[in-house]
Amino acid sequence: MNSTTAPGNLFASSEIGVAAAPTTPMIKLTDIEKVYQTKTIETVALNRVNLTINKGEFVSIMGPSGCGKSTLLSIMGLLDEPSSGQVEIAGRPVTSYSDKELAHLRNQKIGFVFQSYHLINDLSVLDNVELPLLYRSSVSGKERRQRAHAALDKVGLSARTNHFPSQLSGGQRQRVAIARALAGNPELILADEPTGNLDSVMGEEIMDLLLGLNRNDGVTIIMVTHDEQQALKTERVIRFFDGSQVS
Ligand SMILES: Nc1ncnc2c1ncn2[C@@H]1O[C@H](COP(=O)(O)OP(=O)(O)OP(=O)(O)O)[C@@H](O)[C@H]1O
Ligand SMILES: [Mg+2]
Repeated sequence: MNSTTAPGNLFASSEIGVAAAPTTPMIKLTDIEKVYQTKTIETVALNRVNLTINKGEFVSIMGPSGCGKSTLLSIMGLLDEPSSGQVEIAGRPVTSYSDKELAHLRNQKIGFVFQSYHLINDLSVLDNVELPLLYRSSVSGKERRQRAHAALDKVGLSARTNHFPSQLSGGQRQRVAIARALAGNPELILADEPTGNLDSVMGEEIMDLLLGLNRNDGVTIIMVTHDEQQALKTERVIRFFDGSQVS
């Protein structure tokens, strides 16, 4: 395997972040279509979407319910495949990546944050944050613990490591979910309505946290939101309607 295809270089880690050129594409979508076919109905969830997200950007995606926002995020996060069209990551079509490289991208370069947190109720805060690192054979138990503590520190929850999710507020749960994404040192965070279940004060806290990660740590963030105020704090607002980008 040569150096340009080595898993460690997929996102050219050393170049991203604050120092990254602002116009280096991280994800490029060309003519993306996604059609869901069930027995009774065919739904065109995405219709010829062309979109480039550059390294270091903080982009929000807005649009009415059902217009394809979560579908778009799943495709950008390599959790789902388009029906047609091309997805490029770091300048290469995903079809040119090996399965191993794709798994590496999914597991180590991309962090997901969801509206409903997706925490495991039977695990402590610390164990929840450590969990994704268990799948990385290269990370020792000691390092796992250190990284989980560091991530929880970053989101201001060092005092809550032994709590269980049910003992936390919604905002705190979302901060745990963000810490879980951060423990893997992702270069890209895909957040699907991260403040959707939160009141405006807690929503603001989460938004400030994401803005800090973007500005100070250079993490590229793509966030779906229904909140116009929050969207306007990001660098670019992409609006969808009925599966297509409208602005
Ligand atoms: N697995 C699936 N099978 C069939 N149809 C689906 C599937 N997933 C999504 N859809 C349809 O695709 C369209 C887009 O769904 P998507 O979840 O991307 O919308 P959304 O913009 O995220 O909506 P919301 O704001 O309500 O979360 C919807 O019409 C939905 O019903
Ligand atoms: Mg959605």
